[in-house]
Order: sequence, then C-alpha cells, then structure tokens
Amino acid sequence: MIDFHNQENRSTYSTREADFTWVNRIKDICDIKGKNVLDIGCGGGIYTKALAKMGASAVTGLDFSEQILSSAIENCKDIPNIDFEFGNALDTKLDAGQYDLILERAVIHHIHDLKSCFQEMFRLLKSNGLCIIQDRTPEDCLLKGSNTHIRGYFFEKYPSLMKKETSRRYSSEDVCSTLQDIGFKHIKEYKLWEIRKIYEDVNQLAADLLKRTGRSILHELTDHQLEELVQFIVGEFAYAENERIIEKDRWTIWTAIK
Ligand SMILES: C[S@@+](CC[C@H](N)C(=O)[O-])C[C@H]1O[C@@H](n2cnc3c(N)ncnc32)[C@H](O)[C@@H]1O
Repeated sequence: MIDFHNQENRSTYSTREADFTWVNRIKDICDIKGKNVLDIGCGGGIYTKALAKMGASAVTGLDFSEQILSSAIENCKDIPNIDFEFGNALDTKLDAGQYDLILERAVIHHIHDLKSCFQEMFRLLKSNGLCIIQDRTPEDCLLKGSNTHIRGYFFEKYPSLMKKETSRRYSSEDVCSTLQDIGFKHIKEYKLWEIRKIYEDVNQLAADLLKRTGRSILHELTDHQLEELVQFIVGEFAYAENERIIEKDRWTIWTAIK
C-alpha cells in the first residue's frame, strides 16, 4: 500500500496541473469567485492552486501527511491567498461554519469512516455551503482499457488488483445515503472524464507508469510486476508507438448543500 507519510512519496500528488476538463466541470457546478474554500486531503496542492486561480478569496489545503503538505507548500508558494493546515479529515480541529465550499478529491477511498468524514465537512461548512466530493466508484474503476483509459489495462493484466480496487471504493448509493443521513440537501451526481496527462508517445507513458506517480494502486505491485504491466501496455500501443496519448480517468462527482 502507498505510505502517504514516507518521504519517497512526498511529490506523488504535486507533479500535474489541474486539467481544463476539471476546471470547466467545477465552474459548471458552482461559481468559485469570492468563496472561502477548504481542500481536504489536498495532496500536493494541484487542486488547491486551481481553486485559487478560479477566483476563490481564500483556499486552505489540509492533509494528514507532513511530507505531502511540504510539497503542496512548495507547489503553491507563488499564490498569496492559499494556506495549509496539518490535520485529519475526520477531525480537522478547524473552526466550525467558516467555509462556503469544501472539496474532497480522491480522498474518500482512503477513508474507512465515511460518516465521520462527512459529518466533519457538515460541521465546517457555512449554512447553505456546498461540498464537492470526487472519487471513482467501482463501476468507474472497472471500465475497459483503451487508448485513453490506461488504468483499465491494470486490471486486464492483473485481475487480482480489481478486488483491491473495488473494495476500497464507495458505491454511489453509499455516498448519497451517508450524505443524506447527515442532513445534506440537494445531493447531485455527475460523471467526468478528466484528462490526467498528455504523453508525447508511449515511451513517455511507460516512464510515468514506472514511477507510480499519483497512482496508489500501483503500490500494490512489486517492481517486477510493474515492469510486466508496463510491457503489456506498451504492447497495446504497438500500432501507434510514436503517437500522442491523452490519458483520461473516469470520475464521479457528488455535490451537496448544508
Ligand atoms: C489520492 S491523494 C489526492 C490528493 C489531491 N486531493 C488530488 O486530488 O490531487 C489523497 C490525499 O489524501 C490524504 N489523506 C488520506 N487520508 C486522509 C485523512 N484521513 N485526513 C487527511 N488527509 C488524508 C493523503 O495524504 C493524500 O495526500
């Protein structure tokens, strides 16, 4: 499993910029301008930075890994209205009722107690504040591999990873019913194909996969298994080895209002 507290993984969630597919979808959902925003499980600050650039008055990034937070601070150092807090999503110790918007992107599959996690968001939001939760459902994860959906190949090569992946992912019903039980209103669900990264050719993709960057599921494989997976994926692109690859991930986004 990935160890978020290990120095080696410090930059694993800071090496990309948020893609326009994500920015546009969030803009469709709400107007960020002037909002006081909290990004829980902010990782390397990719989306903390994007939210600030989208016009938030202030953005706080919170994470429970000091190593990862240090990479977020470095990543966002040129943006004045961002600050960071060390804390746990289940009990942040932040003051209640101060945020217009809270984002939890790619965090809930690392959380065993969804109810406490959502209760903490509810506590932190202002009345009528909005929470945005983004993660993959088991259905999102198990979509087949293709020339854009690279992740699907992981499970074709190693079906045993499927069990690990689907057992840590919440179904949409779990997310919606937990939000409802806590008292959130106007719960909505969206699907998003988010561009993850563009590679000039398959060799660049192979190099990225071998680093496991931002792909916690690959920490379940030994180095040898990972090399075999990369060979398998390179083989899938044999017909187009010099062509650009636009990698996309399929996500579910839930929104709810306090
Ligand atoms: C997959 S990364 C996502 C990072 C960022 N949100 C993004 O989308 O790029 C998950 C992040 O959640 C953090 N995390 C996991 N469990 C947490 C918890 N209980 N409290 C705070 N942060 C947590 C990890 O340290 C890691 O930085």
